[in-house]
Amino acid sequence: MDQNELKRAVAQAALAYVPEGQIIGVGTGSTANFFIEGLASIRDRIRGAVASSEASAQRLRVHGIPLFDLNDVEGLSVYVDGADEVDGGLCMIKGGGAALTREKIVAAASSKFVCICDASKRVDVLGRFPLPVEVIPMARELVARGLAELGGRPKVREGVITDNGNVIIDVHGLSITAPAELEARINNMPGVVTNGIFALRPADVLLLGSESGVQTLSLR
Ligand code: 5RP
Repeated sequence: MDQNELKRAVAQAALAYVPEGQIIGVGTGSTANFFIEGLASIRDRIRGAVASSEASAQRLRVHGIPLFDLNDVEGLSVYVDGADEVDGGLCMIKGGGAALTREKIVAAASSKFVCICDASKRVDVLGRFPLPVEVIPMARELVARGLAELGGRPKVREGVITDNGNVIIDVHGLSITAPAELEARINNMPGVVTNGIFALRPADVLLLGSESGVQTLSLR
C-alpha cells in the first residue's frame, strides 16, 4: 500500500466517529482531504462542518457540505485532522500546511480529537519534523532569535502567509522531550500566535494506518 492508500484508509475509518445530525470540526492537509471526500458520501447525516483553514472550507463547499462559523456554534462533538508527527502520548506536531492556529482553535472547541495518520508519522520523541510557529510579521526576527536560544534552528517558511496574515517559522533540530512545557514556553514569546505542538490538548484517539490495517489508540 502506498502512503495515500494508508491515508485514505484512516480517513474512511474516522467516519465511524462522526455523530448523526451534528456539526463537526474538519482539519487541513492531504489526510484531512481524504476525510472530506468520505464525509461527502455521508453529508446527509451531518448538519455541517467548521473548517480549520480556507483551503478545507473551499473543499467542503465543493462537496456541498454546509459550513459554519465557529462563533455561531456552541461546541463541536468531534474534530478530525491529520498530523505531521504523533508520539505515544498522542501529542502531535502540526502545521506542515500552515493551518496550525485555526487547527488548535477548532480542536479546543471540540469534545473529541480524532487524529488520522499513516504509520510514518508515529515517533517516539517529537521534533524530527521541523516545528512550525505562527508569528506576527513585525516580530519575525525577535521570535527567531528566541527560538534559536531554545536550541533550535529557525527558518522562515518562504512565500507562505497564513490564513490569519502571519508568517511561519519552522524550527529544525529540536528534540521535544517535554512537549507541554515547550508548547507553553514558545506560546509565551511576544509575537508568537501559536506553535505546532499539540500537547496541552493532545488527540483523544489516534487512527494509524499501516500495512496491517488501521490501528486505534486511545488514552482517554
Ligand atoms: C496542516 C496540518 C496537517 O494536519 C499536517 O501537515 C499533516 O498533513 P498531511 O495529512 O498532508 O500529511 O497540520 O497544517
